[in-house]
This record gives sequence, C-alpha cells and structure tokens, in this order.
Amino acid sequence: MPARTIIIGTGSHLPKKILTNQDLEKIVDTSDEWIRTRTGIETRHISSDDEPNSFLATQAAKKAMEMAGVRAQELDLIIVGTLTPDMPMPSVACLVQKELGARKAGAFDLYATCSGFLYGLSIADKFIRDNRRLKILVIGSEVLSKRVNWKDRNTCVIFGDGAGAAIVTGTREPNRGIVSSHLHADGSLWELLAIRGLGTAQEVTAEQLEKGWQYIEMQGREVFKNAVRALESVSWEALESAGWHSEDIDLLVAHQANIRIIEFLRERLGLSKDKVFINISKYGNTSAASIPIALDEANRAGMLHPGMRLLMVAFGGGFTWAGMTMRW
Ligand code: ACO
Repeated sequence: MPARTIIIGTGSHLPKKILTNQDLEKIVDTSDEWIRTRTGIETRHISSDDEPNSFLATQAAKKAMEMAGVRAQELDLIIVGTLTPDMPMPSVACLVQKELGARKAGAFDLYATCSGFLYGLSIADKFIRDNRRLKILVIGSEVLSKRVNWKDRNTCVIFGDGAGAAIVTGTREPNRGIVSSHLHADGSLWELLAIRGLGTAQEVTAEQLEKGWQYIEMQGREVFKNAVRALESVSWEALESAGWHSEDIDLLVAHQANIRIIEFLRERLGLSKDKVFINISKYGNTSAASIPIALDEANRAGMLHPGMRLLMVAFGGGFTWAGMTMRW
C-alpha cells in the first residue's frame, strides 16, 4: 500500500485586536446590516505592529507541533502560503524556521493568494508520497489589514488577519490521507483582484501611493461570479477524481471569502448545512490562512475523525483556485 499524506496536528493564531462591524461604521460609509447580509462577517482580527505575519505563523506552528508531538528539529520542510510577507526578503518561512529553531528544514513562501494553503499542502503531499517519514509544516498566514485601503468600503470590511498551520506526514493506514489535489489558475483575469504597486514592475512613487496602488483593488461582483464558477467546477473535478459522490462528503471546508459563495456551493453540491464548516463571521476573509484556521477549529472542536471524507476548496487573486479530497 503506497504512503498517503495525513495531518497529525493543527494550530491557529489570531491577533489580539478585534474590529467589529460597528467599529467599521465609524470609519467608512457602511452598516453592520450590509456587511452581515452581503458577506456573513461580524468581526475580524487586526494585527498590531508587534504581531507581524511571521509572528502569527510561528504561534500557529507551535500549536500544531504541540498537538502533533513533533519537535522543531524533526521538521524537514516549512511552506508558508502568504501574499502579505513581513518584507520581500527573507521569506516568512525562513523567519519561522529561525524562530522555531528548525535547523534541518528547508523553507519557502508560496504565493498563490487564498489558494496558498491548498497549493502548499499538495506540494507537501508530493514529497511525502516519495518518503512517508518526512514531517512538513504547512502554514497559511496573512496580515491583510496593512494592504487594505481603510477608506475603501468595498474591501476594508471583508479582510482580516490570522494564521493557521498543519503538520503533515505519511501513513500506510488504509482509508486515510490526501486522495487527490487539483490546482488551477487564470492569469488573464488578474486585474479583477490585485495590488498594483510595491512590486518591481515600476519604482514606488509618491504618485502611485497617492493612487492607492499599495492596497488591494477588487471588482467584487466579477470576483464573486468567477469564484462560484471555479469552486463548483473544482469540487466536481475533485469528487470525480476521488470516485466520490457529493453525498459521500462528511465535511466541506471552503475558503471563507463570503457566506453567500459558500452557501451557493453548498446548494450546488446538495449538502446539508451540518456538512459545511463556517467561521467567516468571526474572522472575515483571511486569504491563505482561512482553510487552516477552519481546519484547526473543526479539529479542536472534535469534529474530525480518522477516515472522514473532507472536500477542501479555495479561490483567490491571480486568479488561483484549488480543490482537495482527503480522508482525515
Ligand atoms: N457598505 C455598504 N455598501 C457597500 C459596501 C459596504 N461595505 N461595499 C459596497 N457597497 C455598495 C456598492 O457601492 C454598491 O452600491 P451601488 O449599487 O449604489 O453602486 C452596492 O453596495 C452593491 O455593491 P456590489 O459590489 O455589487 O455588492 P456585492 O453584493 O457584490 O457584494 C462583495 C460585494 C461582498 C465584495 C462581494 O462581491 C464579494 O464577496 N465578492 C467576492 C470577494 C472574494 O471572494 N474575494 C476572493 C478572494 S480574496 C483574495 O484573493 C485576497
């Protein structure tokens, strides 16, 4: 029996500061009612300067390692999905490696926006299928609040900060582990969701900063339409590849971007509400961190049992999207 990849520990960490919809009503022209009914979000966590991305990622990693009973010296690889690193160089993964003292681990960041955690998990899966003894730390961690224009009500109400982590390794136990993973992208639509500035295509100028090129720009309605289409199609693709029917799904863990997107997907897959994990009300859209935070919450709530069938799906800027079937 070939090795399969399982998650043996999960962790998450949220910044201390909580921003409510009522707080946002004082900052931009919005209302608690609009935000709740259009997005499902009630609060989000906002990181302070002493809680950078690498700090959130390290805290989440420590909790996952503790649950897994894995020491830093045992880690072979650290992958961090993020679009909001502390700085362009070094990677968040290298800073986490230093903080943990994971001396033998390779470390790199993976830039696939909201799909970053599933992209990272699928890369870890390929390594582990070759060598089931490897122990790999996969993290999704974001500080989106620093890339959000707090004058733009179209975006500032949606995003939040946080980190989630998983320790993965191999098993030969039957009926466990990652069954299939599916990665997709469509760069032709990049302008619908982008941060135009702060890269190397152009010098950073005062004029650009004035135009807000350091912030997330999103054509929400177009992103919404593309997200529902891509998430449904990758869900069917993943189910078919696993040889599952939608009624086989025990839990759907979707990127927490908008309650209406998740609800649409739930209906298209014909799932009952108890088969869908939702925590967007507390955290907003935390991009690459949303799926590992959700997994950690479900895990610590005792909702995940060995052999359970999970479908995980994500969609984000780029565009990127991904799906994964897993027996927990
Ligand atoms: N408060 C009050 N009114 C608002 C707000 C707000 N915060 N934001 C927008 N509005 C207004 C708009 O100005 C518009 O007014 P108008 O009709 O007078 O022009 C009206 O509300 C409707 O705006 P829409 O953008 O059409 O609203 P929609 O129902 O589409 O909801 C939202 C907007 C929540 C952004 C939704 O489109 C969405 O969730 N899109 C997908 C986001 C997403 O999934 N991103 C993916 C990944 S994120 C990543 O990769 C980093």
